[in-house]
Amino acid sequence: MKNVVLKLSARDLVHADLASCGWAGSDHHLAGVAGQLERARTGEVDYLAICPATDIPVAKGGIDYQIKEGVGTLWQLAVHPALQSCGIGTFLVEAAERRIRSRGLRQAELSVEESNPRARALYERLGYAAYDRRPDSWDEQAPDGSLRRYETMCTLLRKELS
Ligand SMILES: CC(C)(COP(=O)(O)OP(=O)(O)OC[C@H]1O[C@@H](n2cnc3c(N)ncnc32)[C@H](O)[C@@H]1OP(=O)(O)O)[C@@H](O)C(=O)NCCC(=O)NCCS
Repeated sequence: MKNVVLKLSARDLVHADLASCGWAGSDHHLAGVAGQLERARTGEVDYLAICPATDIPVAKGGIDYQIKEGVGTLWQLAVHPALQSCGIGTFLVEAAERRIRSRGLRQAELSVEESNPRARALYERLGYAAYDRRPDSWDEQAPDGSLRRYETMCTLLRKELS
């Protein structure tokens, strides 16, 4: 096996990226992300793209500053499936934490489905601690384009940023 080093950088996700983000979810999900980019314009959220030298996103995730006052809430984190478990998710979370700190805030939160222990273990390794659980739901798009309500239970985690 040969190791390859990828030089990654974090920047704002923009509308033109969405055409190459099909790996991140359905058309319905990407339409929702497009809506979030409008909120990013007014500063309510940051939406990050993690890119190698090609400048094509291999990971993306949002930070919502309106869920709780004084808190950056990470959500919609995703790494290209072909590149998971290489450290890119860690890079994405650390970039998001830098964005939160650059706004003078010191608290980060996120929620993770109870059915996703691997993601939870990653967040705990990065210093997030569980403090509550809560049901959540959102629309999921089937391959035939139809939407159905998906209901799940999530663990809420938080971290004090140094
Ligand atoms: C959850 C998610 C964002 C994490 O991103 P990731 O890039 O896979 O995360 P990392 O690579 O930083 O860390 C995850 C794993 O890689 C390992 N790892 C990290 N850096 C590594 C490296 N340089 N070399 C080898 N392995 C590494 C970690 O030990 C960890 O191990 P695990 O597979 O046992 O969990 C990503 O897997 C994903 O998009 N999953 C699908 C969507 C999802 O679940 N989103 C989260 C919703 S809350």
